Amino acid sequence: MKAIIFTKYGLPEVLQLKEVGNPVPKDNEALVEVYASSLNAADLETLKGAFVNRITAPFKPKHKIPGTDLAGQIKAVGNNVKQFKPYDEIWGDLSFPLASGAFAEYVCVPEDALRLKPASMTYEEAAAIPTAGVVALQNLLSNRPIQPGQKVLINGSGGSVGTFAVQIAKHFGAEVTAVDSKEKLEMLSLIGADHVIDYNQEDFTKNGQHYDLILDVVVQRWIFDYKRVLALDGIADMVGGSLPRVGLNILLGKMMTGKQKIGLTAWKPNKKEDLNYLKELFEAGKVKPVIDRAYSLEEVPEAFRYLSEGRAKGKLVITVKHKS
Ligand SMILES: NC(=O)c1ccc[n+]([C@@H]2O[C@H](COP(=O)([O-])OP(=O)(O)OC[C@H]3O[C@@H](n4cnc5c(N)ncnc54)[C@H](OP(=O)(O)O)[C@@H]3O)[C@@H](O)[C@H]2O)c1
Repeated sequence: MKAIIFTKYGLPEVLQLKEVGNPVPKDNEALVEVYASSLNAADLETLKGAFVNRITAPFKPKHKIPGTDLAGQIKAVGNNVKQFKPYDEIWGDLSFPLASGAFAEYVCVPEDALRLKPASMTYEEAAAIPTAGVVALQNLLSNRPIQPGQKVLINGSGGSVGTFAVQIAKHFGAEVTAVDSKEKLEMLSLIGADHVIDYNQEDFTKNGQHYDLILDVVVQRWIFDYKRVLALDGIADMVGGSLPRVGLNILLGKMMTGKQKIGLTAWKPNKKEDLNYLKELFEAGKVKPVIDRAYSLEEVPEAFRYLSEGRAKGKLVITVKHKS
């Protein structure tokens, strides 16, 4: 089969399309023909060998085939697989338990990591949702339920996680402020943001507003900046960004008095209930993945380049064609 392979950390140039052996399912696994996958910021961090990746694999990548989000069709099942049969259409997130492997024509996946794809979703839509949708949902809802009318600000809202977060927060009735670069603001208004801020023109921590919840996808600020714009019992949830800053903010947050909270939500990838909930929101027309572009398997390095330039509006999808 064809697969995207990387054997050393680096820029998108280290990614190669190669012919590798077809995977064979173990007893508890299904062989999936991959039809679509998508890119996440975490894939880029893994490619470059970010600090978290180097903890377990300091010199070269542990898993050679990248790609976590998956939508496709089951081709064969191992002896002990009970929930699926050939031709079932599935979706899921390989972050758990496999780590990656979706940028390929086929992948073997433990059956517990898969679920049936709703017929209402295209493969591309199904591949765009699992990682980013679940991260957005868990970070928005893990602290306390959002009440209608509450002010929610999403910093770094124009990418993978943020475009889901804006729509989910709107679904709960929040007044949403979306912060990102100028090019993404029109799209953010179209998906429901009540207010948009170009971060190159305005510092949301100095505009005199107060927010009940701040979701920061690109943490570049200190705890004191958040405190200034949080409501008296407001919460700032740090989704991603500068690791030392996130760590120090958490440490300082523990010393904080008052009702304001600053923290991080531990991500539980591929959680069944969360994907089911996102499916319900999708079917009700409340949440739709924003898909900027689709690339073929051959074009994966190009997709990584586009993502690393910060140009993607929402999600970049990879579609995998098979000879019929
Ligand atoms: N907490 C967890 O458990 C967990 C789990 C999975 C992933 N993550 C992390 O979550 C993050 C997810 O990001 P993503 O996939 O949504 O990234 P993304 O698609 O790259 O989106 C990030 C957005 O932030 C914008 N941005 C950049 N600098 C900004 C600034 N200073 N102010 C405001 N916006 C800015 C970018 O736009 P421009 O480039 O145009 O500026 C882009 O639209 C990653 O860091 C990932 O590692 C966390």
